Amino acid sequence: MSIAEPLTDERELETGFDATIAADQRIEPRDWMPEGYRKTLIRQIAQHAHSEIIGMQPEGNWILRAPSLRRKAILLAKVQDEAGHGMYLYAAAETLGVDREELTEKLIDSKQKYSSIFNYPTLSYADIGVIGWLVDGAAICNQVPLCRCSYGPYARAMIRICKEESFHQRQGYELLLAMANGTDAQRQMVQEATDRWWWPSLMMFGPPDGDSPNSQQSMAWNIKRHTNDELRQRFVDMSVPQAEALGVTLPDPELRWNDERQAHDYGEPDWDEFKAVIAGSGPANAQRVAHRRRAHEGGAWVREAAQAYADKQAARKDEVRKAAA
Ligand SMILES: [Fe+2]
Ligand SMILES: [Fe+2]
Repeated sequence: MSIAEPLTDERELETGFDATIAADQRIEPRDWMPEGYRKTLIRQIAQHAHSEIIGMQPEGNWILRAPSLRRKAILLAKVQDEAGHGMYLYAAAETLGVDREELTEKLIDSKQKYSSIFNYPTLSYADIGVIGWLVDGAAICNQVPLCRCSYGPYARAMIRICKEESFHQRQGYELLLAMANGTDAQRQMVQEATDRWWWPSLMMFGPPDGDSPNSQQSMAWNIKRHTNDELRQRFVDMSVPQAEALGVTLPDPELRWNDERQAHDYGEPDWDEFKAVIAGSGPANAQRVAHRRRAHEGGAWVREAAQAYADKQAARKDEVRKAAA
């Protein structure tokens, strides 16, 4: 066999992959894919899964303090949905040849990242509403295009996730409407929460396009469908009328309608703050990772018990099979 043969094979495989992408069709787990594509997806899906799981913390913090049984039930259901999103996404990542245990280890060793937004603290109950409205709202803008992502398992997971996210956004907005129709003190809480979460929400779309080196390649692979700035603009345009309906002011003096662009102009987020939070020095980074580590270690006995049970079942089945033979 000549040395050239495997190379030709690889080239053929690559041509097939490129044709699938060009035809806007899906790549499935058993299909050949370039190593860079696989690595990019593992990184992105893992970060996404970690974000869902870490994102349970700022809201879980308010389950015991939610003001009524109804609000507790709603918040509990929402936080539970986020756990489910994490599970679908870890399962999607596993189809690329990594396992969840390994990804969890990377998260608690701070070797993989999660969304910067979850490193901010939730200081009042109005934050729960604003997280639903703005944070889940920004997540929807980011995630709806991922339903058409070129990697099949990721795209399919996103369809279900996006349906649930739209409930999350509505529950947040409904909560804020109730507070906006309440007392002056409640309206004040809504305004303060909006002031604190607006800029970090804009940062959820990632750095400006000029400063986002991986975006071009992700777009060429049909993983990403729109640039960070396009999605950020969409989010701003969507949020302005919602803020008006709530009677809150978005904390950006440069925010105004631009007739020529048929879009809102808006101010620049503090990118130094974004970089610091991503690098691990946000207000709650250490606390979030430490909490996740404690939960993982505390759950070790459950995983061991489940494994022991599965081994016992397998051994029993084996015995039955042997006896029948
Ligand atoms: Fe989610
Ligand atoms: Fe959500």
